Order: sequence, then structure tokens, then C-alpha cells
Amino acid sequence: MEIDTKALAKKYGTPLYMYDFDYIENRYTTLKDAFAGKKSIINYAVKANSNLSVIAHLAKLGAGADCVSIGEVRRALDAGIDKYKIIFSGVGKRDDEIREALQKDILMLNLESEAEMKRVELVALELGKEARISIRVNPNIDPQTHPYISTGLHENKFGVEIDMAKRMYIYANKSEYLNPVGIHFHIGSQLTKLSPIREAAMIVADLVRSLKAIKIDIKFFDVGGGIGVVYDDEVTISATDYTQVIFEATKGLDLTLLCEPGRYMVANAGAFFTKVLYEKNNGGKRFVIVDGGMNDLIRPSLYNAYHKIEAVGVEGEKTPADVVGPVCESGDFFGKNVPLPPLEHNDIIVVHSAGAYGFTMASNYNTRAKPAEVALQNGKDRLIRKRETYEDQVRLELEYLEK
Ligand code: LLP
Repeated sequence: MEIDTKALAKKYGTPLYMYDFDYIENRYTTLKDAFAGKKSIINYAVKANSNLSVIAHLAKLGAGADCVSIGEVRRALDAGIDKYKIIFSGVGKRDDEIREALQKDILMLNLESEAEMKRVELVALELGKEARISIRVNPNIDPQTHPYISTGLHENKFGVEIDMAKRMYIYANKSEYLNPVGIHFHIGSQLTKLSPIREAAMIVADLVRSLKAIKIDIKFFDVGGGIGVVYDDEVTISATDYTQVIFEATKGLDLTLLCEPGRYMVANAGAFFTKVLYEKNNGGKRFVIVDGGMNDLIRPSLYNAYHKIEAVGVEGEKTPADVVGPVCESGDFFGKNVPLPPLEHNDIIVVHSAGAYGFTMASNYNTRAKPAEVALQNGKDRLIRKRETYEDQVRLELEYLEK
């Protein structure tokens, strides 16, 4: 869709997040269609972009949600996601989170340790309810991605080993308060190769078969998230190749197939708009200083992640510049040696592919207010989150001032 970046930046101010809702719809439909002929749920990973309007948009399309805190579960429910399409994962769920999830009667709690299973059983007993659970299996597969977003190796904190998973299923199956309905794995994020997913799916499907042999019937087979997207010139996984691999691994089994895409849904729907404040030159090194910072979009600082950067509607010879923010950290940058034309105060810079893990990882570091968020849909724009104010930030501290 054609975007008048300058007009949007002027209307809503900068720094600003913009999400193309038509693109999100297209991504959802493409993936859902790739599961055609099978029972499936697309459980959108809320952590990628948890704006209520984004979740509500996906809810209307029929998506479920993958949540990692009770806050995310609340968001999913508030945004209209069907409770029987909500999964609650995470290695460290508190008792109050477990209790609320059980009371809210969501599809299942995804367990990541034996100790957690015992906790869930106890809370379920207190409530006099049966807890539907799945177990996250750690298949010990190298997903060949950035170590910070790799999760499927035994050296990572996630999930349990196959043998442990089997023991847990046997225990849960006997328990009056646990109902083992699902199985889960998630080996990492920004995966661009299919083979690790194939390998993991095979291992986990074999476990389903061996559980079936002892009369433990798994209904939901959850392959996690992780489909990689194009930030630069990556060649990544197509929706149909992805589902084909899952179909092959689960052949002969009667399962509802679940996946938990976050980045795939929203990364390239989003862009981050920031305004040029100053240019400066330090001993021959060119810096473009913008009004957005690492507190707004931390991926480049945290993972050295690449995001394409462009200056909107500015002509002139391009020379390399580091695009940096106002935060007092040398790591506060969006791009290094980015070819950019000469820039002036108020020129607009667009940081692309910022729809996933952008706003959700934003902070108030340096008492900077979080950016506004805008949706574009059917050729129209609308504000979906107001720009934060100083007052919003200090609201919870005010009583100390008043004392
Ligand atoms: N399911 C589970 C259990 C997960 O841990 C994750 C992501 C997802 C699904 C969604 O993964 P996706 O489809 O978005 O790749 N902040 C990092 C990414 C962290 C991902 C954490 N888990 C980044 O900005 O690259």
C-alpha cells in the first residue's frame, strides 16, 4: 500500500510505529490457507506485537493466541480471541498466573518442567478443576539462528528432554487434575531453514506415536513459532513448504495442528518513523542523530539486528552514516554505515521491518516516552495507541512526591 510517510509523521508526530493491517491479514490468510485440509489453529505469538488493535484484527480473522504471561492472556481475551484458542507458555509461571489461566478456562497451559507440572496440579486441585496441559519438548536441535533467540538446545532453559516429557505425560495421564491434551516444541526464532523444524517435528511426532501406544492420546500438536522473515536479502521459509514438513512428520496421526508465528505475522507490516535532529561529524565519521532511540526499538542494539533504513524523499549523493538516537549509550543506534543523502532537521527516516519485537520491547530508559502507534487499513490511518506523556510515566511514583 502507498504510504505518505511525511503526512503521517506530521499528523501523529515522531517517533512513531506504523502497522499495515492489510499486510497482517494477508500473512494470516496465506499461512492459514497453507494448512488447508487439516484441523489447525494459528496461535499468534502476542509477544511480537501486543497492541490490542493488532490482536483484535487477528481475532476477527479467526486467530488464536500464544501467551507468555497472564497479562498477555488478558490482552488476548480483551481483544476478542476465543478462550479455547489461547495457550499459556513460559518457564516461570507464578501460582496466581496459573490460577487465573485455569479460571479463565483457556485451551491449555504449556508446561516447561516437572516442578511446574506439580504446581499446576496443586492449583487445579485447590480450584477443583482439571487443567488441560501440553508439554514443551526440547528436542535438542540447533535451529541455526542467533544464539539469543535459539531455544531448542539442551543448553537453553526451555522445555524438557524427551524422556522426561514421557514420564510427565504418564504422570499427568494418571492425575485427576491434569489432562494432557497437547504437545509442543519451539526451537528458535527467525528460522530461515526448514531442516531443523523437520527434524524437531519428526522427533516430537514419534513421541506422540509412542504415547498413543500406551493409550495417551494427544490432540494438539504445536510446532511453535519461528518462521523467519526478510529483513535484508534472506531466503526464508515459505508457508506451504513449512506446512508440508509438518504434514509429513505427523502422517497417520489425527491431530489439530497449531503454530505460533509472531514475527511472520507482523515484522514486515511495521515501520518505525523517526525525525532527523542533527547531523554531526566526529573526526571524519558521519552521524545522523534522530529523535527515536534504543528505548523505542532495541533490536539493532541488542542483537546487532539489521533493519533497512531510508530517508524519505531526500535526493543527493549518499555517503555512509551511523544513524543514532539521543540515549546516553554508545549502543544506541539503528544502523551503521548506512548510505544516506545529506539530511536536514526534520527530514524523516524510516526504519523498516519494525512491526515485531519493536514496541513490545520498548522501555522508558532516560525517561523517554514510548512512541505512538498507528494502523493503516483499507487506505485509512488511525491511532491505536497514544504517545505516552511524562505524566503517564510518573503516575505511579507521584505519592512519593506528595509525601
Ligand atoms: N512461541 C514461543 C514459545 C516463543 O518463545 C516465541 C518467541 C514464539 C512462539 C514466536 O516466535 P516468532 O514466530 O516471532 O519467531 N526479541 C527477539 C525474538 C524473541 C523470540 C522469543 N520467542 C527478536 O527481536 O528477534
